[in-house]
Amino acid sequence: MNDIVIDYTNIFQEIIGEENGITEEAITALNNRAKDIHKDLVARRKSGDKPFYDLPYEMEKTNKLIRAAKQIQKQFTTFVVLGIGGSALGTTALLTALGHPIHNNLTSNKRNGACRLLVADNIDPDEFSALLSSLKISDTVFNVVSKSGSTAETMSQFMIVQKLLEKKLGEKWKKHIIVTTDANSGTLRNIADKFKLKSFVVPDAIGGRFTVLTPVCLLPAAAAGLDVIGLLKGAARMDKRCSKAEIRKNPAYLFASIHYLLDTTRGKKITVMLPYSYRLKDVSDWFRQLWAESLGKKVDVDGNHVHLGQTPVNALGATDQHSQIQLYVEGPFDKLVCFLETEKFNADVTIPEGFEDHPGISYLSGHTMANLLMTEKSGTEHALVINHRPNMTIRLPEVNANSVGQLLYMLEVSTAFAGGLYRVNAFDQPGVEFGKQYAYAVMGKQGFEKKKAEFEQTKLPPRKVL
Ligand code: PA5
Repeated sequence: MNDIVIDYTNIFQEIIGEENGITEEAITALNNRAKDIHKDLVARRKSGDKPFYDLPYEMEKTNKLIRAAKQIQKQFTTFVVLGIGGSALGTTALLTALGHPIHNNLTSNKRNGACRLLVADNIDPDEFSALLSSLKISDTVFNVVSKSGSTAETMSQFMIVQKLLEKKLGEKWKKHIIVTTDANSGTLRNIADKFKLKSFVVPDAIGGRFTVLTPVCLLPAAAAGLDVIGLLKGAARMDKRCSKAEIRKNPAYLFASIHYLLDTTRGKKITVMLPYSYRLKDVSDWFRQLWAESLGKKVDVDGNHVHLGQTPVNALGATDQHSQIQLYVEGPFDKLVCFLETEKFNADVTIPEGFEDHPGISYLSGHTMANLLMTEKSGTEHALVINHRPNMTIRLPEVNANSVGQLLYMLEVSTAFAGGLYRVNAFDQPGVEFGKQYAYAVMGKQGFEKKKAEFEQTKLPPRKVL
């Protein structure tokens, strides 16, 4: 098992020029701040304030969860997650990274009896009704995941599904719903207790976007037969590497410091995560939420209005070479590109001989797709460099549970550390809460009458439409 590495050659002035690059000295100059932030994070970890740090060591609980998942596999062929944001994105990232690329289309035998895994993370009626009508209800279990236990999107899905199950299965509906929520509080917990539904706990004080190593994502992952123990082992391995305060000895702190310096001193307001590996495609979607919700803040820790936060964007190589790369290479100088790549693919396909009298394509013969994909990555990297665009690469030895565990954990620690650099609370999400409260109030939730009146009083100008 090897470590993932960060290749950060292409962020420096000597490679991409003074205006867009940073210096080794600038990184070194952050070391004193890094020491303080590290001290604070370590203290908070010890006091139990930041429990996501200790999740890689929850082996006993995870083994219990795997046993529960095995039972689920015996009863059901399809596992549907009802959740949104942090209650959905990690699960999707794990399935794409660690599952068979066509996991849900394989026969049960080929999946070794593991469940198909679907994630319903929206309330679009076209999409949701199509999903429901495609399911064989008697073979399906629904995992309602909500830390707060009240999110309108997830709860509306739950209510629809519960009614459907009751109509089709009568009292047996209770066997088809598994709840993952807070241990003690919230409407969903009350419902789980009242109807004696099988339930799992979102550990206290862990915000949605930091729950990828909790039952929120590990239960669906285990039901789909993914290697959740390997994931935790990889995360624990990264935890060891993140134990040092010095930036160059800590990959998470290095990742955050590069982003921070390029944002605040070189105007790189956008960070693009660009995997050249289909398996890592949804890791960048997961990271997009992590970075955006954690660091996009109105106020700093002293209450000053700062309105900061880098905009995370996700793209995919080589697909987006034909969609986005033109902009990244020649457009505004406002981006840092972070490639994700793997040294080894699980499969490879050789481009066959043929078309010898068509040199326009015959040069491809004998090369493999992996070779072509990684050549294209080098090409994009080179184009960025000669156009003075900072970029870096996170390289995985291969995409497996251990390396993905390392990667996800590193990005979580990075985000916590970046909160310290930007001096914002990386663990709250007042902007998200506003949207939730608006929905509660306008849709008539009890206790939100005052909010509803407030919203109704807000004078909106007449709509301008054409
Ligand atoms: O990261 C977060 O806190 C949010 O994105 C939540 O995960 C999301 O709003 C869903 O919340 P809940 O799990 O309470 O339904």
